[in-house]
Amino acid sequence: MRFENQIAVITGGAGGVGRTLVRLFASEGARIMIADMDETGCRDVAEEARATGADIAFFAGNLREKGYCEQLIKATIETFGGIDILLNNAGVIPRGTIEETTDDMWSLAMDVNLNAVFFLCRAAIPYMEKRGGGAIVNTSSVWGTHPGPAHVAYCTSKGAVAALTKNLGRDCAPMKIRVNAVCPHEINTPMIRSGFERRGLDPDKAVEELNKTVPLGRIAEPEDIADVIAFLASDQSRYIAGETIEVTGAKPVSG
Ligand SMILES: NC(=O)c1ccc[n+]([C@@H]2O[C@H](COP(=O)([O-])OP(=O)(O)OC[C@H]3O[C@@H](n4cnc5c(N)ncnc54)[C@H](O)[C@@H]3O)[C@@H](O)[C@H]2O)c1
Repeated sequence: MRFENQIAVITGGAGGVGRTLVRLFASEGARIMIADMDETGCRDVAEEARATGADIAFFAGNLREKGYCEQLIKATIETFGGIDILLNNAGVIPRGTIEETTDDMWSLAMDVNLNAVFFLCRAAIPYMEKRGGGAIVNTSSVWGTHPGPAHVAYCTSKGAVAALTKNLGRDCAPMKIRVNAVCPHEINTPMIRSGFERRGLDPDKAVEELNKTVPLGRIAEPEDIADVIAFLASDQSRYIAGETIEVTGAKPVSG
């Protein structure tokens, strides 16, 4: 029970990795505020976790809105009385080269993947400081630390999250707030599967093909990433701050 009575905000809590994070943190005693624009998904995940006895609330909304980000932290304080852990897991993946990237695609990537992380960290940090510390885990991507092909808005936004993490990791350490990021390679979630569907491919077959490109033999399952995030949020990583941890199954970024 690494998170007994700790209060955690999990963004993207209705998505592939997010649902797994909610289950894992609830099973280890966390009290959780789920955030996602998918209100039905939030309700489902919350009900599932409540059925196991967990203390869960959700606050659905659009992370593209600064007001929502700030309200989310306020709602967490009003509901649970504080905040110990912030998992900035939500993300979007507009796909394209620079010529294919519209203004809207660029803004979407920056709003969800970067600006929301900034607004949420800025709103949460003073409350963490009041409680004597905390942990923030941002989800970047290995495509943020090494550019992947033809995803210029996504890779740039995730690179900026890695940079923000290193800055905050340094600045917040004296407050005993540890800020780290996880940088996954491909994960078997709706994000990657919907990309295959859009290209007219069968997602199961496409994932099977992708598995062959990973030295460890398969792309990540959400649990593989959630376990690393939980480690970074827990006291087991008490001396790790300002790091971006690549979780790749030894697969390099190529192409
Ligand atoms: N799946 C991968 O291959 C992969 C690889 C590297 C990094 N990542 C990162 O991992 C994180 C989790 O991704 P996932 O694979 O679980 O994706 P997912 O698409 O399954 O889940 C993302 C969740 O974020 C929510 N979301 C998106 N835009 C939002 C907004 N404007 N406001 C509120 N909520 C919003 C969605 O509703 C969804 O529930 C993301 O940050 C993603 O960029 C994923």
